[in-house]
Amino acid sequence: MTQFWKPGSEKPRLVDDEEGGILFFSTPTSSSSSSRFGYSSIDKQRQGLPVYKYRNGILYLVENHATTIIVGETGSGKTTQIPQYLNEAGWAEGGRVIACTQPRRLAVQAVASRVAEEMGVKLGEEVGYIIRFEDLTKPGVTKIKFLTDGVLLREMMDDPLLTNYSVIMVDEAHERSLATDILLGLLKKIQRRRPDLRLIISSATIEARTMSSFFDTSGRMHKKAGDEIEPKKEPAILSVEEPIGDILVFLTGQDDIDSAVQLLTEEAQNLKKNSSGLVVLPLYSGLSRGDQDLIFAPTPRGKRKVIVSTNIAETSLTLEGIVYVVDSGFSKQRFYNPISDIENLVVAPISKASARQRAGRAGRVRSGKCYRLYTEEYFVKEMPAEGIPEMQRSNLVSCVIQLKALGIDNILGFDWPASPPPEAMVRALEVLYSLGILDEDAKLTSPIGFQVAEIPLDPMISKMIMSGSLLGCSEEVITVAAILSVQSIWVAVRGVQKEMDEAKLRFAAAEGDHVTFLNVYKGFLQSGKSSQWCYKNFINYHAMKKVLEIREQLKRIAHRLGIALKSCEGDTQVLRKAVTAGFFANACRLEAFSQAGMYKTIRSSQEVYIHPSSVLFRVNPKWVIFHSIVSTDRQYMRNVIAIDPSWLTEAAPQFYQQQGLNKVAY
Ligand code: CDP
Ligand code: MG
Repeated sequence: MTQFWKPGSEKPRLVDDEEGGILFFSTPTSSSSSSRFGYSSIDKQRQGLPVYKYRNGILYLVENHATTIIVGETGSGKTTQIPQYLNEAGWAEGGRVIACTQPRRLAVQAVASRVAEEMGVKLGEEVGYIIRFEDLTKPGVTKIKFLTDGVLLREMMDDPLLTNYSVIMVDEAHERSLATDILLGLLKKIQRRRPDLRLIISSATIEARTMSSFFDTSGRMHKKAGDEIEPKKEPAILSVEEPIGDILVFLTGQDDIDSAVQLLTEEAQNLKKNSSGLVVLPLYSGLSRGDQDLIFAPTPRGKRKVIVSTNIAETSLTLEGIVYVVDSGFSKQRFYNPISDIENLVVAPISKASARQRAGRAGRVRSGKCYRLYTEEYFVKEMPAEGIPEMQRSNLVSCVIQLKALGIDNILGFDWPASPPPEAMVRALEVLYSLGILDEDAKLTSPIGFQVAEIPLDPMISKMIMSGSLLGCSEEVITVAAILSVQSIWVAVRGVQKEMDEAKLRFAAAEGDHVTFLNVYKGFLQSGKSSQWCYKNFINYHAMKKVLEIREQLKRIAHRLGIALKSCEGDTQVLRKAVTAGFFANACRLEAFSQAGMYKTIRSSQEVYIHPSSVLFRVNPKWVIFHSIVSTDRQYMRNVIAIDPSWLTEAAPQFYQQQGLNKVAY
């Protein structure tokens, strides 16, 4: 049952035990909420999944067709079962590997450990995974490999025909992530050279038609798993002993999720007594392994789990035992404007397709209910039917460089599942040219272009690293790059803003956030990498550990590229010049005569402000460079550094001559 918010009416209550409902998606399984069984019961559970009925059919199609398209409800067993079926049918014999890609890292880790558990093997042996900066596979041993679509793209650079793989399953294709679309375009090319390669494209919604026409001739629609199952109604009688059902709440990002989790936890403590205990948990990418495990652990008897999630729980992850869904109607989405050349994360309305997926998360096990915090009229009249593929709303700098590195020169003529806007392409080419990564003929430059393509980071960060090595601060730029690769090194705790600000001041550098990061890193090392020290300073210990890991990987890459590690010994000017060499396109100038704290981008005169989380908030140096933009009520610059404008023309002469910066009075 779906309930919309009605204007003027009381907001729906979060939880409603008495009301019955309709089973959204009825599977013949009793898919019990516990996933930690012995083997025989795992076998039984596997055979109860809707996809099991199609096992032979799927294997037949894969055997006989280059491309197979599979559409099935979330939770029907596509991700966890199909790779195992392929393995059982011998597709991983003779040293070949079965790959399954996911757009999200967290999903990669979660499904890999689930499949390892189902097969009764140690994760990292027969079943492994790779995400950026983390490789848990064993060459020659690993048969089923889960990886992000981005990682598979990178593997193509070393092995353009992906010869190690017998079958590649591109999962969650309906998400239409940037990397998925690039991958599909390239796989179509590879197929022509490798008739033995098998492709499976799986999706939770019926966008399959686009896919099947994209992979024309041999594409086959497979029967939707679950189609033949009669949705059955079941009275929702809840006996007192029975678990009352978990709640899944869709919000947009880490910030609002963390504060909702805090609020709910406090509420639950106030309620106490008669109410059953609430276990409130956040779910977003970047969660530590321990927190991830809590999400999948069975709900303790008599308790109720409330999971507050980003749209990661929409289709990528299957959560057992969810009976109630609360859908805010929004998600955080990437939007890129080629005119202003600003890409930012915006909280934006979801599509009807997403809303249906979200509702579908309720009552997989028994009758469920979805509360939509928007009106029915809005749903019917205004909500877009489908989302826009990420390819059409992204900055294409990384995409272009990857294709170039794979030797694809005619990018505009490339066969995409969804064509990107030509303006965005032109912008990307322009930036890459100014970065010295592409030459006049739009080919990768040697060595810079090829080196940058090899570093698994945003090309602007890679350029910063390359320049840092020339300027003599490779140690520092690698640390900065590692820190910029994690979400945030600060911990956000409600109600102690003052203490948090004071802690930050201990590290704050007048030159900006990047230099501040170096101070934190130094302090962390001096403390002996102590978690206590992090706790005391409101620094996220898990994030810092991740930084150490990433830094080690970057050191290895630097070594491979022949970059010698060298420290500038506290000379922040060279460090800031290196940042400028990578990020000159993000330069801004303070508008002296307008509203306090208002900056304009040099490139397109966009109005931007320093984010309150930056150490330069309220300091407002005249010239700054930002790392990224987030939009809420305004466009805020995150991670900001003060620069001297003469460095801009030094770093990218053509770029800034075009912008007429020489004429700008400093
Ligand atoms: O990919 P799809 O959404 O079709 O389903 P799946 O991820 O393969 O999940 C199939 C089933 O495996 C779910 O219905 C769950 O019962 C179970 N599962 C689980 O218990 N724990 C996980 N971490 C993943 C899946
Ligand atoms: Mg799946």
